[in-house]
Amino acid sequence: MSTPRLQLNHITKEFSGVKALKGVSLTLMPGSAHGLVGENGAGKSTLIKILTGAYAKTSGEIIYEGKTIEGMNPKKAKELGIHCIYQELNIANHLSIAENIFLGEQPTKMLGLIDWKKMNSDAQAVLSSLQIELDPKTMAGELSIAQKQMIEIARAISQNANVLIMDEPTSSLSERETEVLLSLVEKLKSKGVSVIYVSHRMPEIFRVCDTVTILRDGTYIQTLPVDQIDGTNDLVQLMVNRKLEDFFGKTEVPLKDIVIETRKLRKDGIFKDISFSVRGGEILGVAGLVGSGRTEIAEALFGVMSLNEGEILIDGRKVNIKSPREAISNGIGFVTENRKETGLVLKRSVMENISLANLSLLSGGMFVSNKKEKEIANLYKQKLNIKTANLEQRISNLSGGNQQKAILARWMIQKPKVLILDEPCRGVDVGAKTDIYSQITEMAKQGTAIIMISSEVDEIVGMSDRVIVMHEGEISGELSRVDINPDNIINLAFGGTVNAK
Ligand SMILES: Nc1ncnc2c1ncn2[C@@H]1O[C@H](COP(=O)(O)OP(=O)(O)OP(=O)(O)O)[C@@H](O)[C@H]1O
Ligand SMILES: [Mg+2]
Repeated sequence: MSTPRLQLNHITKEFSGVKALKGVSLTLMPGSAHGLVGENGAGKSTLIKILTGAYAKTSGEIIYEGKTIEGMNPKKAKELGIHCIYQELNIANHLSIAENIFLGEQPTKMLGLIDWKKMNSDAQAVLSSLQIELDPKTMAGELSIAQKQMIEIARAISQNANVLIMDEPTSSLSERETEVLLSLVEKLKSKGVSVIYVSHRMPEIFRVCDTVTILRDGTYIQTLPVDQIDGTNDLVQLMVNRKLEDFFGKTEVPLKDIVIETRKLRKDGIFKDISFSVRGGEILGVAGLVGSGRTEIAEALFGVMSLNEGEILIDGRKVNIKSPREAISNGIGFVTENRKETGLVLKRSVMENISLANLSLLSGGMFVSNKKEKEIANLYKQKLNIKTANLEQRISNLSGGNQQKAILARWMIQKPKVLILDEPCRGVDVGAKTDIYSQITEMAKQGTAIIMISSEVDEIVGMSDRVIVMHEGEISGELSRVDINPDNIINLAFGGTVNAK
């Protein structure tokens, strides 16, 4: 048996009294992929940050190829070839692909000038070796999330990564993009790279990982070869240690009048002819491939993107929405797909983030009553089971899934007439999904019209009263309750038609 590339022995981590890791061990072999699974807040990202030197461990041992590493820090990690693709991507939109790949390490000529020619050709070589078909001169701002992620992987490979850590790499990818990423992982394995793969999607763990380690509440539970685990249910059981039932909990809600209607919305080059309506209490699922224009429609409704043509009506009245502020005052809420860029104020506390959109609701006049803000925030912390030591924590200290719940709480308090959810369960664990689905249903019961964009077909099927499917910027079909099934959705998403009954 070969020597392990990396061993973590009894790692613990405390954050001002809170034990995030309580003695976690993990052994990583060369050329293999090791899955790391557990519910939101289990300690996966924390373990990874210790490994990359972003956090200092409280106790325990890190051994790299037989040598104990003292005082791990980001520089040391990089020298050892330990790289991480974080949950929130680290790409500069105003730089080209090549510049992003060589960020901070651009090849230079005499006088320290950047050698553009060499940089572009080196970038091309790395991209080709990974079979990524992109032009190194393209600006990163034009890339999809999936493509940005590929660029991060290319960056790691260009710096001779021996250990590549991926923290929920597919949470915002379409099925096709996921497939590309998974084959990239296979390719990295065959090059001898060791991969640590964090995901809430069990089929991916079974597909690419050789071994898997399960964490629960900061505690090490077990490490198992993947072929000794009897399917997703068994793995989930080890993660949550309780029975999961009634996953979607969809209940029939009596539908009220039409709350929002769109007429022939058009944004040149992005979408056109978008006409639909949603009733109070109704959940309209919006399916389609990533890049089919779904998020952009949401952005137009919320006043982030301007329209070239079309009308939006709320309660039968034409409205003119040019900014999120106007959207909110017209009763529209938006849970965004990308938490970091548009959802959260990372420097602020959990409480401030939850109440961000509610200032007018809470304050009789100009200022906010602190006590009331706290009461309401606490109520929703419980309702959604948000794991945080206290409400004064910076929101950036919460685990990814718990940040998502905080955004949802914000809009639930606001009680908008229309709530747009873009990938509501992105990065959320299997148990917490149940909490989120039941809160969405609760809002529908209270009469909110819900527009739910999702790439997860199960979620669309489980939650929607009606579904529109997008294909290349147009609505390729609409499905009523009886016709909502995975086959119909996938056919329409690829521009096909619905099977005749
Ligand atoms: N900088 C920090 N300060 C205080 N607490 C923190 C900090 N970072 C993480 N924590 C806490 O440590 C625990 C583990 O969080 P971590 O982010 O590792 O979870 P995770 O397993 O990655 O979850 P998710 O699946 O939601 O991403 C959580 O309770 C979190 O609030
Ligand atoms: Mg995490």
